[in-house]
Formats: sequence, structure tokens, C-alpha cells
Amino acid sequence: MRRLGIVVASTRPGRRGRIIADRFVDRAVAHGGFDVDMLDLAEVNLPFFDEPNHPADGIYVHQHTRDWSARVDAADAFVFVMPEYNHGFIAPLKNALDYLHREWNYKPVGFVSYGGIAGGTRAVEMIKNVVLDLKMVPIGNAIVIPRVSEVFDNSGRLRSTDILGDGVDALLDELARLTDALATVRDAVPGPC
Ligand SMILES: Cc1cc2nc3c(=O)[nH]c(=O)nc-3n(C[C@H](O)[C@H](O)[C@H](O)COP(=O)(O)O)c2cc1C
Repeated sequence: MRRLGIVVASTRPGRRGRIIADRFVDRAVAHGGFDVDMLDLAEVNLPFFDEPNHPADGIYVHQHTRDWSARVDAADAFVFVMPEYNHGFIAPLKNALDYLHREWNYKPVGFVSYGGIAGGTRAVEMIKNVVLDLKMVPIGNAIVIPRVSEVFDNSGRLRSTDILGDGVDALLDELARLTDALATVRDAVPGPC
């Protein structure tokens, strides 16, 4: 079975991201095309990048890096659940990406973004350049949640369970297609990949 890593980017106390990611997990489980692993960066709790070597060398001196490497390596595809801060994607996600290299290679990534009027789309456009350098394949299908503050009530609870809309299955179908196609590429690349 394909394995999908759902990366929760926000580590902020009171973050909305984990609740949005939980909804996405429900939909991914119902879709049935993937086993799902929640990669919650608040739980992973990486320090700022502190490895002496370039991650492309795959030589890690810290246990937290080896643990993160194993989690990412085990996934065949990713969904990043990500907000926009100051018109960009957020620092914990960049840090988590920078820690590794080949573990990301030739794996597709889809985006669930949220924020104000632009729904996090500026952050998604920005991160595409970064994931391409890691030889990931960003997909065009995306879930965008604008005005996210209105999606939650004052207690931080969702006003409606249907916040992701009807594009989730199409996104997961596209991820599944690319996961299978890229498995061939990963098999053809020499060395561990
Ligand atoms: C430091 C900071 C900067 C933000 N900048 C933007 C922004 O540029 N564009 C936007 O749409 N929303 C922005 N927001 C609103 C966030 O998208 C919104 O608060 C969202 O819920 C944050 O995700 P989180 O709750 O999972 O941490 C910002 C929020 C914070 C905390």
C-alpha cells in the first residue's frame, strides 16, 4: 500500500493546522488509496537545523535527525497542511525540509493551505521552488481555505465539519497516480533513494 505523510506545518500554540489536518486524515482514510501517517511538526519538535553535514550525504549525527529521516523515508507521498505567515510559508516547515534530502526525492506533494483572503496560496507558490530543489513533484490539485478565522468559532472549534470541500478525492487520486509513476523513477535511481 502507498504511504501518505501528512505534514502539519504550524507548531503555534492554539494553531488551527492540526484540526484541519485531522479532517484531512479522515478524508484520506475514507479515500482508501493510502496508509496515512501524521507528521506533526509540533510533535516531531526538531531544533533549528543542527547537522554538520549536507543532508544529501545522509550522514546524520543527531538522533532527532535519524528519527525524522525514518519517518519521511517511509512515506511515498506527502500533503503539507500549511498556513501563510507574512505572505510566505512558515519557518518550521522550511526547517523540517532542510534537515533531509534523498528522503524527499521523487515523491509527490499536494498542499492544503489556509489563511486570510488568499487562503495561503502565496505560501504554496513560494514553497514550490523549494520542493523542486529537493526533487519532489508538487501537484496542481490543491485545497485552499480562505478566511480561516471565520471557519472556527471563538473557542477554536470548527463551525462546520465540511471545511475541505469536494476537491480532496481528486487531489488524492492525482497523488496516487504520481506516487505509482515516481516509484519507477525511484527504482531507477542508483544508490539509496
Ligand atoms: C505571524 C503571522 C503572520 C500571518 N501572516 C499572514 C499572511 O501573510 N497572510 C495570511 O493569509 N494570513 C496570515 N496570518 C494568519 C494565519 O494564516 C492564520 O492565523 C492561521 O490560522 C495560522 O495558522 P495556524 O493557526 O495553524 O498557526 C498570519 C498569522 C501569523 C501568526
